[in-house]
Amino acid sequence: MDLLIKGGTVVTAAGSFPADVAVTGGKITAIGKDLPGTAEQTVDAAGKLVLPGAIDAHTHMQMPFGGTVSADSYKSGTRAAVCGGVTTIFDYPVQHKGETILGLVNSKKEICETDACSDYAFHCCITDLNGGAILDEMEKAVEEGITSFKCFLVYKKEGMMVDDGMLATLLLRAKELGAMINVHAENPDLIDLRTAEYLKEGKTSAWYHYMSRPEFVEAEADKRVVHWASHLDTPVYLVHMADKEGLEACIHAKEEGHEVYVETCPQYLEFTCDVYKRPDGRNFVCSPPMKGEESREALWKALKSGFIDTVATDHCPFQSYEKDWGIHDFTKIPNGCAGVENMYPYMLDAANRGILSFERVVEVCSTNPARIFGCTAKGAVEIGKDADLVIYDPDKDFTISVNNMHSDYDHTIWEGKKLHGYPVQTYLRGKLVYDNGEYVGTPGDGKFVKREPRSV
Ligand code: URP
Ligand code: ZN
Ligand code: ZN
Repeated sequence: MDLLIKGGTVVTAAGSFPADVAVTGGKITAIGKDLPGTAEQTVDAAGKLVLPGAIDAHTHMQMPFGGTVSADSYKSGTRAAVCGGVTTIFDYPVQHKGETILGLVNSKKEICETDACSDYAFHCCITDLNGGAILDEMEKAVEEGITSFKCFLVYKKEGMMVDDGMLATLLLRAKELGAMINVHAENPDLIDLRTAEYLKEGKTSAWYHYMSRPEFVEAEADKRVVHWASHLDTPVYLVHMADKEGLEACIHAKEEGHEVYVETCPQYLEFTCDVYKRPDGRNFVCSPPMKGEESREALWKALKSGFIDTVATDHCPFQSYEKDWGIHDFTKIPNGCAGVENMYPYMLDAANRGILSFERVVEVCSTNPARIFGCTAKGAVEIGKDADLVIYDPDKDFTISVNNMHSDYDHTIWEGKKLHGYPVQTYLRGKLVYDNGEYVGTPGDGKFVKREPRSV
């Protein structure tokens, strides 16, 4: 036995119980009270929770975007990930027009082989069907373990947007292949129209980022996606859900039996659009923007009642000087915020305060993303699964600051946030990679997660 974690409380999506956890060869080999035998390394977890490593199903590492490149490389972003209890990230490489899916993914895999500190998977963002060749290539990608693809319904000027016809084509092709389409839903024409009006009126502060894409702008696109997917009878996954009306459309479709999955992010659970009135409002600029209190409350309600399937971060930080490009023009602010190191601690703090259960946090942050996206070896403290484990101290107080994070960015929207309870150790397939505030792994520890397609 390589590792024995003794005396902790194991948390699964289905329940919590006191048990030891034994690890051999990177896998969980036994779970039970007072496990016999000796291990090379024994860890006392008395008074602590033993959780599955989180899966952050939505990151943008070193992504060219907004006139620059997001501030976390694969190395620093995944280093931060494991320090926040995330043992697998799903990154979103974006296809340039004419590029092949496998060419794109392989170029990212090559970087991750030497740099990744957590395990990694990719959802490939498709922007161009290359005359139909991409529809054929999707089959090969699925064989290689890339079983999800993304459509942006926005970012028209950036050349990333897909229209409804292409969305429908991809939804149907993905279904045929046992794959999933993830969608960023906002209405691009409404955004452009409103943006032009505000700029003409000299309304250029970060507040107008929100005003140019408020609740109904996201809701229209959410509803359109749900409409297409329901009528075409295909599964669909909506990323970073932030508005009540769109969320309600998803809940309605779910209740009717449609396979609609909903992801939200901690920033939409914590903040409202009021942040855009702050002097540093530009630092909170992301798309979709944070919405009003009614939406924030609806997200929490849906999270507690089971209608939100996953929580992920949309981690896409930029440096302060880059955010400052938009001091006098909100359209020049690179869109995105940091979060990969904060998600699990933030959600676990909510559980620690009794807002929702630890089991539910494990479900939305680990078990569900593993199940939805075909990571069969991940997502639970269970015999046979990868020993991606987090030891969590429910009594440790922690205040988030850019100075105690492990990323490469120079500010965080989470600055000053107080948490009760914090991860103290993270194990990646049985290897200790985070220990009481310090990253102790080696870049390159992370491995590509080859995923299983859904049954067709
Ligand atoms: O503002 C955001 N969310 N930036 C990253 C790209 C995206 O839309 O997910
Ligand atoms: Zn997005
Ligand atoms: Zn994103």
